[in-house]
Amino acid sequence: MRFFIDTANVDEIKEAHSWGAIDGVTTNPSLVAKEGKDFREILDEICSIIDGPISAETVTLNHEEIIAESRELAKIHKNIVVKIPLIKEGLKAVQIVSKEGINTNVTLCFSATQALMAAKAGATYISPFIGRLDDISQDGMALIEDIRDIYDNYDFPTQILTASVRHPEHVRLAALVGSDVATIPFGVLEKLIKHPLTDSGLDKFLKDWETVPKLTSTSQKG
Ligand code: E4P
Repeated sequence: MRFFIDTANVDEIKEAHSWGAIDGVTTNPSLVAKEGKDFREILDEICSIIDGPISAETVTLNHEEIIAESRELAKIHKNIVVKIPLIKEGLKAVQIVSKEGINTNVTLCFSATQALMAAKAGATYISPFIGRLDDISQDGMALIEDIRDIYDNYDFPTQILTASVRHPEHVRLAALVGSDVATIPFGVLEKLIKHPLTDSGLDKFLKDWETVPKLTSTSQKG
């Protein structure tokens, strides 16, 4: 499973990239708004750090405007994936821009039939938001399983990008059910590395190491 980082914060992207696990980036209007910086400036910085798919979201509601926005975003860098909301006007746009070779990430997916419609329109990625489904007492991971089965049944090439990931268990289960990608917030990526037994084990190794007799440089000479 590929890992994208779900943030528009450049420091988080640089730090997570240094761990060797980041294959791409997803942003959304809310994440960009938190940074208080120009969107284009943020995208240029991200593209200079990560050589992989970078999702940039459109913010219009009419298909003609979504298409125009998509074309502008795609011009910024070869790695830009245009994120388009799962509404009728969005799917009209996906259908047209995907034929022009623009990669798309259809976002705000909450049902298997929505995912089927996005695949039929030619989406490169589908983003089911599992955490937001869990928030309303629906099973987010069951949606990933359903989409996996449906896409496999009919050989749809659309890749499943598990989104709205809230904790490491979401990542473990997404990998088990065969999600193609998970987009993960920085805090959750950190938690994927941490384990209390690693910390206590390392602490003991270092304490025990202090008791090992060491030759001094004088005694080594002679
Ligand atoms: C997807 O690409 C979105 O940016 C994101 O995963 C939404 O997550 P949230 O539900 O935590 O806002």
